[in-house]
Amino acid sequence: MSTSNSSAKRIWITGAGSGIGRSLALLYAAQGHKVIISGRTLDKLQHVADEFSAAPTNPAAGASGNAGNIVPLVFDVTDAQSVEQTTTQLSHYTDYLDLVILSAGTCEYLRRGYLDPALFKRVLDTNFFGLINSINAALPLLQKAPRRPHLAGVCSLAAFIGFPRAEAYGASKAAAQYLLHSVRTDYTDLMDVTVINPGFVTTPMTAANDFPMPFEMKADEAAKRISSALNNRPLEFNFPRRLTATLRLAQLFKRTWYKRISRKPGASGSAKEIAGDE
Ligand SMILES: NC(=O)c1ccc[n+]([C@@H]2O[C@H](COP(=O)([O-])OP(=O)(O)OC[C@H]3O[C@@H](n4cnc5c(N)ncnc54)[C@H](OP(=O)(O)O)[C@@H]3O)[C@@H](O)[C@H]2O)c1
Repeated sequence: MSTSNSSAKRIWITGAGSGIGRSLALLYAAQGHKVIISGRTLDKLQHVADEFSAAPTNPAAGASGNAGNIVPLVFDVTDAQSVEQTTTQLSHYTDYLDLVILSAGTCEYLRRGYLDPALFKRVLDTNFFGLINSINAALPLLQKAPRRPHLAGVCSLAAFIGFPRAEAYGASKAAAQYLLHSVRTDYTDLMDVTVINPGFVTTPMTAANDFPMPFEMKADEAAKRISSALNNRPLEFNFPRRLTATLRLAQLFKRTWYKRISRKPGASGSAKEIAGDE
């Protein structure tokens, strides 16, 4: 990546082979930024990079004079051993990072009858320890940014309150939120930190969901909202607003929420009863 254009940001996005991360990568590259994308599967990452190269020139990029690009870099966020190597690989492409968006994640729901520790470990390894490994990989390059850098982590509105079968996923996202808020306090001299809490977004992750997903939106729309919100570097960005408001109310009226959301044995359980449809 060339260092010649000062308005083009250097961005690293994890979990960018699909879903929200992919849409964010394509959006930022189309705006003329230099984007390094990570995930475990090179084919998926390469496909996103090729998709961008094949797209017609974006008018926004043309206007700013920046030519964005996307570079794939395989990184399994659960692999603590590869953190140092990943920093080195990142530094082959860029001397510094302006913006890091940690979107890699996984979701597994529990079955009634057994709180499967192996499932908890898988989910926590990716959604919580993966965040730690990613932050460690990014820190040396964030520290070299010529302007104040920005770290953002994709958590979830699911962490606002208890949902059926989401013991592992919700706990991992609640832990991720706390981690990021706490990192903010220790690195306030270095960077801004944003916790992103999406509601339901149509991605491969939600494709298997067997329950209604109120206010669900497309990944491209989610990416637009996230990138626009990140411009203001908020402490937290919760969206969509109606689902956020519903869950805030649920936090105030917990007894009502749990009475309505709790599963009868055999039922699939969903937030529909309280949140309603779009
Ligand atoms: N979709 C929703 O409704 C929703 C709502 C709230 C929050 N979120 C959060 O948004 C983030 C993005 O999810 P998504 O909906 O866009 O799902 P997605 O399309 O499944 O994207 C997740 C990405 O993470 C990557 N990934 C998974 N495990 C990884 C690992 N160990 N190391 C590196 N990369 C890994 C996957 O690629 P590989 O398999 O190739 O590694 C995949 O591309 C996640 O953190 C998710 O929890 C999603």
